[in-house]
Amino acid sequence: MGKGFYISKPVAIACVVIAIAAVSTIIALSVVYAQEKSKSEVIPTPDPSNPPSTTPSVPKEPWQHYRLPDSLLPVSYNVTLQPWLVPDADGLYIFKGQSTVVFRCVKETDLILIHSNKLNFTFFGKYHAELRGLNGAAAPPMTNSWLEVPTQYLVIQLSSMLKAESMYELYTEFVGELADDLGGFYRSEYTEDGVKKVLATTQMQPTDARKAFPCFDEPAMKAVFHLTLIHPHGTVALSNSLNYEGQNLTQTSFRPTEVMSSYLLAFVVCEFDYISSVSDTGVLIRIWARRKAIAEGQGNYALNKTGPILSFFEDYYDIPYPLNKSDQIALPDFSAGAMENWGLITYRETALLYNPSVSSNGDKEWVLTVIAHELAHMWFGNLVTTRWWNDLWLNEGFATYVSYLGANYGEPTWNLKDLIVINEITGVMNVDALASSHPLSTKEEEIQRPEQITALFDSITYSKGAAVLRMLSEFITEEVFTKGLHSYLDEHKYSNTVYKDLWEHLQMAVDAAGINLPESVEVIMNRWILQMGFPVVTINTQTGTVTQKHFLLDPDSPVDRPSPFNYEWIVPITWMKSSSAPEKQYWLVEKEGSNPEMINGANEWLVANINMKGFYRVNYDSENWERLLTKVDVPVINRAQIIDDAFNLARAKIVNITLALRTTTFLNKEVEYMPWEMALSNLGYFYLMFDRSEVYGAMQAYLKKQVTPLFEHFKDITANWTKIPENHTDQYNQVNAISTACISEVKGCKEPHHWIPANLRSTVYCNAIKAGGVEEWDFAWSMYKNATIAAEAEKLMSALSCTTQPWLLNRYLKYSLDPEKIRKQDASYTIVSIASNPIGQPLAWDFIRANWDRIYNEYGGGGMSFGGLISGYQQGTGISNTNMLKQLGSATASLEQWVDENKQVVFDWFLSETSPSL
Ligand SMILES: *[C@@H]1O[C@H](CO)[C@@H](O)[C@H](O)[C@H]1NC(C)=O
Ligand SMILES: *[C@@H]1O[C@H](CO)[C@@H](O)[C@H](O)[C@H]1NC(C)=O
Ligand SMILES: *[C@@H]1O[C@H](CO)[C@@H](O)[C@H](O)[C@H]1NC(C)=O
Ligand SMILES: *[C@@H]1O[C@H](CO)[C@@H](O)[C@H](O)[C@H]1NC(C)=O
Ligand SMILES: *[C@@H]1O[C@H](CO)[C@@H](O)[C@H](O)[C@H]1NC(C)=O
Ligand SMILES: *[C@@H]1O[C@H](CO)[C@@H](O)[C@H](O)[C@H]1NC(C)=O
Ligand SMILES: *[C@@H]1O[C@H](CO)[C@@H](O)[C@H](O)[C@H]1NC(C)=O
Ligand SMILES: [Zn+2]
Repeated sequence: MGKGFYISKPVAIACVVIAIAAVSTIIALSVVYAQEKSKSEVIPTPDPSNPPSTTPSVPKEPWQHYRLPDSLLPVSYNVTLQPWLVPDADGLYIFKGQSTVVFRCVKETDLILIHSNKLNFTFFGKYHAELRGLNGAAAPPMTNSWLEVPTQYLVIQLSSMLKAESMYELYTEFVGELADDLGGFYRSEYTEDGVKKVLATTQMQPTDARKAFPCFDEPAMKAVFHLTLIHPHGTVALSNSLNYEGQNLTQTSFRPTEVMSSYLLAFVVCEFDYISSVSDTGVLIRIWARRKAIAEGQGNYALNKTGPILSFFEDYYDIPYPLNKSDQIALPDFSAGAMENWGLITYRETALLYNPSVSSNGDKEWVLTVIAHELAHMWFGNLVTTRWWNDLWLNEGFATYVSYLGANYGEPTWNLKDLIVINEITGVMNVDALASSHPLSTKEEEIQRPEQITALFDSITYSKGAAVLRMLSEFITEEVFTKGLHSYLDEHKYSNTVYKDLWEHLQMAVDAAGINLPESVEVIMNRWILQMGFPVVTINTQTGTVTQKHFLLDPDSPVDRPSPFNYEWIVPITWMKSSSAPEKQYWLVEKEGSNPEMINGANEWLVANINMKGFYRVNYDSENWERLLTKVDVPVINRAQIIDDAFNLARAKIVNITLALRTTTFLNKEVEYMPWEMALSNLGYFYLMFDRSEVYGAMQAYLKKQVTPLFEHFKDITANWTKIPENHTDQYNQVNAISTACISEVKGCKEPHHWIPANLRSTVYCNAIKAGGVEEWDFAWSMYKNATIAAEAEKLMSALSCTTQPWLLNRYLKYSLDPEKIRKQDASYTIVSIASNPIGQPLAWDFIRANWDRIYNEYGGGGMSFGGLISGYQQGTGISNTNMLKQLGSATASLEQWVDENKQVVFDWFLSETSPSL
């Protein structure tokens, strides 16, 4: 699935103060999420149909197991579905279906288990289905059939055995609800020219194909799907494959799909319009959206970029795109960010549509990277699929990593290969540095229930997965990495794998290239995927000793999860020195190592983990720290890294907080985005916590001093704010400069306000709402309700949470769970935005507590959008009990406590930095 609900970027760009608060909120929430995840194997869900299983007893009957038996394998399906886009007499939206599944018996059995959820079946005699033998095989009569609700099966018992190697077909007719629950076959609504429109669409991943028709709903149960949709005149029907030409308008049959997993199916019935092009290699590319959005050109950017990115991946994998078309469709209601259905990729509108007049460059980057992420899956994930969900990290971590390569090809001047560090890596380090984190890889048998699968969609899976694969690609070189990747994909196409299959192919490529590693790819990578966390590497540049230790943000909280490797890693350490510019590599393979080359000469400094290629933090002897503090000729990512490492080492009580603060003193000479962004988000904790204390004034003064040169720089390069900087990261940093200047009351900061370029809209809206009262709020609310551009609606939605009036925030919280006012897909975004406002934070917690059951049942169960509340920018709904509510505050509490303990030192430091020297 595409990265879901990207809270951090929109909020961060919205407003620095808000962003600052958001960081700690997101971290706090992620913490809790991670804790929940680690326990989810034993936590009972409140779903009454899934009785608590705290004392796991081994289920006796096959239909009590969540995994399918290995006796039957699907070959093909022939499914006809008819959605009604108007309610029936009972006010219910429904769809009707008929399905035939052809399957092969591989082990004799008298039992048929096939997934089915929330479908009502037509009976044939006494039973839910009809069974026929194929090629002369006789079908044994049925003796019983029923729906096993907890494990989501249609169960059919037979009077005698199905024969191994024989083929059979099972026919069913059924009715399902076309609900607005964002899962399975569901409906989405919007208004066009004053008319309400209804469309039918799908979200199958991970386990909702079974809500659309009975199927063997596991990723390894690949089959060919023949689909027919019967739909109203005036609507179009889309699916994974192209339709046959010249058909009756109201009935569309699709060409058979490739052999594929059920979770990658998609079909849509809608009144959308499209634009199209043909890629260099002859692939038909179409962008579908609301007619108005297409007419306004909102799909043009996506159309411009899809072809090149597709071609990039054809080269990167060295395998042609496996299908003949790529449809991408923007849906008004969609739980995740996007979904990589093979040939018909579904998106929420903000992830596909772009409008230059209101979308910021951040919105544009989001569209670009989500498209690249989904296209990357067309091979890695779709053509070759991991056998079971426990390997989701490989699928999603990989797509996340290479999305930056594909996006970089689409916009080569944007520095996206660097931005992965800030967008993915530093954030997830904060989650993974907690005692409650969890390893990337999980055992197959530990993931059984749909909730456990859903809970895997977290930031560890996406972002840490991306970080460790990037590290691997760096130490074996990108060239060797892609060679191994190609042979892995080529050998396993149309089939399923486990992660070790990838290691095997990479090892072959490493051996062929003669690359020297201290251990095999598998042995090295096991340390990174089978144990949680990562090390802090300490380099003593006086002695040349290098040591490692499990890095924990809270050194006092016990780690009760044992590690097979005692929390030691095999660490690829890249490093460079001022005097010897070329980058070098050193492998730390044990707890302690030594490298005399790392001893500093006079006036030398050493910096390690170049461009943050490795997933670890670095500490040095104090002498080297002192030297680093005065240098600005360090590579830009490392200037950002030094700040982030120092603040995190300070939080972990490994270095003094004043050292961390001192890493920000060079900012008055810094114009690059990454160091500034890193500094602002780390200083953000203080800004939030010191609000209303005397430290605030001192901090303001310091920030003012630091940001003034940056503000002047941007004033300069934008010719007194009359144009937008050309450089992508400059555009981000301009927003940082203006927001920080306004907070710290730099003279002239209000100047840009009479002219509102798209990048600044969020900041300006937020400030207007903050300064205004109910009238301004209501005005912005009506703008939000009438917005026809999703990016604009999203900016207004987050600006509405900037108000300082508690009653408005409380009213907005109520709106968030009213689907007439806020779409279900946006509920979590709204609540997280409100929680990111210091005034809203306690209100949001109270609200979540009071409405927990509703949130879980109506927003958490089927769709994934509420997962956003938990991990900030990931979806996942492993949040299933009230325990988490107790913990919600505790993560923020430990951060608060740390800031509090350091208050005086920090205050003194800010004062010393800003008072005129004597
Ligand atoms: C699918 O089923 C329909 C009717 O049940 C039939 O007309 C059609 O030929 C079948 N298609 C395939 C590919 O078996
Ligand atoms: C399925 O049957 C249940 C129980 O009779 C009923 O409440 C529900 O509305 C039915 N669903 C549809 C889509 O007909
Ligand atoms: C189109 O199909 C529908 C339903 O299958 C049928 O009722 C109608 O007569 C068909 N129209 C034409 C022009 O074939
Ligand atoms: C798409 O590409 C065309 C042709 O290069 C260009 O004129 C247009 O501005 C692009 N549109 C967007 C939204 O990037
Ligand atoms: C940190 O440094 C400051 C000033 O240099 C000093 O007052 C303080 O005691 C130090 N804190 C710790 C924990 O070493
Ligand atoms: C844009 O800015 C980044 C960082 O400031 C810099 O590294 C890059 O070279 C710049 N790109 C262009 C095209 O000027
Ligand atoms: C910016 O404004 C200043 C003062 O108003 C003026 O001196 C300067 O020429 C202006 N610069 C540009 C590029 O317009
Ligand atoms: Zn994905």
